[in-house]
Amino acid sequence: APKKRESFSSRKVFIFAAIGSAVGLGNIWRFPYIAYDNGGGAFMIPYLVALLTAGLPFLFFDYAVGHRGRASSPLSFRRLNRGTEFIGWWHMGINCIIAIYYAAILAWSLRYMIFSFTQAWGDDPATFFAADFLQAGDPELSFNFVPGILIPTVLVWVALIAVMSLGVQKGIGAANIVFIPLLILMFVALVVYSLTLDGALTGLTALFTPDWSSLAEPQVWVAAYGQIFFSLSIGFGIMITYSSYLKSKTDLTGTGAVVGFANSGFELLAGIGVFAALGFMATAAGTQVSEVATSGIGLAFIAFPTIISQAPGGAIIGLLFFGSLLFAGFTSMISIVEVIVAGIQDKFDMGRVNATLLVGVPLAALSILLMPTESGLYVLDILDNFVNQFGILAAGLVSIITLAYIVRALPALRDHVNKSASLKIGPIWMVLLALVTPIILGYSLISTLITSLQEPYEGYPPALLNVFGWGMVVLLLVLAIVVSFLPWSKTSRAALKPPA
Ligand code: PHE
Ligand code: NA
Repeated sequence: APKKRESFSSRKVFIFAAIGSAVGLGNIWRFPYIAYDNGGGAFMIPYLVALLTAGLPFLFFDYAVGHRGRASSPLSFRRLNRGTEFIGWWHMGINCIIAIYYAAILAWSLRYMIFSFTQAWGDDPATFFAADFLQAGDPELSFNFVPGILIPTVLVWVALIAVMSLGVQKGIGAANIVFIPLLILMFVALVVYSLTLDGALTGLTALFTPDWSSLAEPQVWVAAYGQIFFSLSIGFGIMITYSSYLKSKTDLTGTGAVVGFANSGFELLAGIGVFAALGFMATAAGTQVSEVATSGIGLAFIAFPTIISQAPGGAIIGLLFFGSLLFAGFTSMISIVEVIVAGIQDKFDMGRVNATLLVGVPLAALSILLMPTESGLYVLDILDNFVNQFGILAAGLVSIITLAYIVRALPALRDHVNKSASLKIGPIWMVLLALVTPIILGYSLISTLITSLQEPYEGYPPALLNVFGWGMVVLLLVLAIVVSFLPWSKTSRAALKPPA
């Protein structure tokens, strides 16, 4: 007989876990610069429009699929329609790729948290990061290991496997209940402290001064939708998996709105903190904020070390900043790996600990083989770019088109949500999901495809791009289709029917 499915003990625990997934590196190091670069204060308009017209509708869609299916992504889709199972396997592949490189960023953050106390980067954080810390060589595949990264990468995987093997409530739920409040405390402290730095106001002015003309640029709208999709962790199985652990009578739309607005609130807070700190950095160097504003790896591992070295109480800033990256990233990482563990559990009718090991050990091995080496930075950058541009966006687009137009499952999903929703969804939801969302996703996908074909991403050599970029993207889709034709084990076959 099928085992009783795990669940979160309450809606509150689910909300913490969902916020834990949504609030990640994207909030801290991506949103501030995207907003700054796309109209500053004026960006709030496309951003809010994107949240309301695509973010929340797609979030409700993910919740509906997972909560109705009460299963992992592949099995939830299969329970909707046999022919859509491949979408779930595609999600599994995408999350494998993300897990492999996310662990490395967490490992770097862990290391930099400790560096903050000794300011190991000296007076040239840029050279230190690439040459001394990562020991990045020429952009070609290398298996020369860098021990200073290898050790924290192993630690991250051990911690992750430990949490995951404790299960949905005692592992995932408990970790988020502890880490999310801690993250919020640390981050608020960081923002408040940054606001006291010299030049903080200059930074905020640079961020919030609206450039209204940007509203006429399509690229700005694409950036807003792109940020919302990435930031809410929608469209690649994460929210499907988490919502499958909710009790059967749950207010899905009310819950989704809480998660969506909490995530956006955190982004806004990060914008304030990051630009206050960048304002300090520019003032200290006697230059403009535009000279120092950046995002991603450059912001975290080059700009922030500079700020930490120059600001009063720099070590505290470092502890709070890298600690926030670590906690925000770890809780996202948990959600990424859970998509895979849940799928394996369903497919092979496996217990929690066995499935965690079957997933965690090979993923950790791949991650450890590829990331803490002299080419780790390049492989990470390529995997990240291609899986985001052509994995997540394409899977989101294909799943909406398939469900809306080919198997026509939206009415069933709407009815499922409305059974216990505080905020009912209807025709507006369907139009936003079936019309607005695919147009935006399709436009973004095609325009990035054209630019990527015209010029090799970041000028990397074709050998690297063909394997870790294009090859990886194609492999994920082909594997997903092949795996969807494989038979299910005898015991899990009983589970293929939708729950009563
Ligand atoms: N949503 C997260 C963020 O905004 C990122 C994330 C990516 C989370 C992939 C889970 C999986 O940072
Ligand atoms: Na986010």
